Amino acid sequence: MTKTILRALKGEVLPTPPIWMMRQAGRYLPEYRETRAQAGDFLKLCYNPDLAAEVTLQPIRRYGFDAAILFADILLLPQALGPKLWFETGEGPRMETTTTMGQVENLKPTGAIHDTLSPIYETVRILARELPKETTLIGFAGAPWTVATYMVAGKGSKDQAAAHGLKDHDRATFQALIDRITDATVEYLSAQIEAGAEVVKLFDSWAGSLKGQDFRDFAEAPTAKIIAALKARHPGTPIIAFPREAGQGYIGFAHRTGADCVAIDNSVSPEWAAANVQIDGCVQGNLAPEHMVTGGQALVAATQHVVRAFSKGPHIFNLGHGITPDANPDNVQLMIDTVRAG
Ligand code: CP3
Repeated sequence: MTKTILRALKGEVLPTPPIWMMRQAGRYLPEYRETRAQAGDFLKLCYNPDLAAEVTLQPIRRYGFDAAILFADILLLPQALGPKLWFETGEGPRMETTTTMGQVENLKPTGAIHDTLSPIYETVRILARELPKETTLIGFAGAPWTVATYMVAGKGSKDQAAAHGLKDHDRATFQALIDRITDATVEYLSAQIEAGAEVVKLFDSWAGSLKGQDFRDFAEAPTAKIIAALKARHPGTPIIAFPREAGQGYIGFAHRTGADCVAIDNSVSPEWAAANVQIDGCVQGNLAPEHMVTGGQALVAATQHVVRAFSKGPHIFNLGHGITPDANPDNVQLMIDTVRAG
């Protein structure tokens, strides 16, 4: 019997939607905090296959989600291209910047990424072996625009001003950077699929700051290129795209990029997404992650609202963005029980 997530990705409408959660392995879980402390720091955890597999499995054991997402980070790929990466406690990622043509040309060749990333493939192999037979294994990478925003600024930023600046004032360098990330992402996801990932997801967390032609050139075009290359090599592997806060850009996104499923953030209503995006195929989303903090009857009502709005088409239930560290694990159980009760 085919796994429920794979059935939804093929367009099947199930009696209740399969469910998983962005950042389901994370700091809201005491068992994650314990393993992370054992690893030393976040990057050591990502590069330790046994511990990374362990934290990936923790939310599966606790909740029985229908999918497990590989525990890693979107910034490991740019790190594998050469720039140093570290995490400042309480502040987030920091990275050596890439802002000139010379620096783009000095990035390591695409084929060299596996030297750094081979422990990640080992994590995938362990998970492919150890996951329950009904659980789908999802691999992932950042989409080129989002990865570029961190490479150019050297850190996260609210408005991605540094990347916009490079894009607007030195288009050739910016395009060369996007092209390098695009090629490396194809190799990275391909290796994850060969190691046992059954679905892959592209996180374009900052797609919402690209407008008009920029959205087409830097959110859609690189995504379409990655998907075409993966489909040529691995025709049976479904791909989820997440152009977060794309707004009107969600309309036709699956069509224009070849994605099998579009993940929807919670800045749009599920009714709007059902009418405008789900008409093209499977969608994933989009409960506001705040409900995992606040819980109660409002969580139940909002969960039922999302389930009902998407009930006429293929749907994978998820949050609209990652669960936050201050979430209550009991609220996650309440969400799952509500979804599965129909
Ligand atoms: O979803 C999952 O559980 C899979 C693992 C995963 C992580 N990061 C683990 C992580 C995935 C898919 C990501 C994606 C990611 N990483 C994105 C795109 C999705 C999104 O959330 O928008 C981005 C932008 C990053 C970069 C990143 N990694 C930031 C900005 C931060 C710091 C913010 C924070 O939450 O602390 C991280 C760290 C990070 N990545 C953590 C986890 C569990 C927290 C690290 C810790 O334990 O301290």
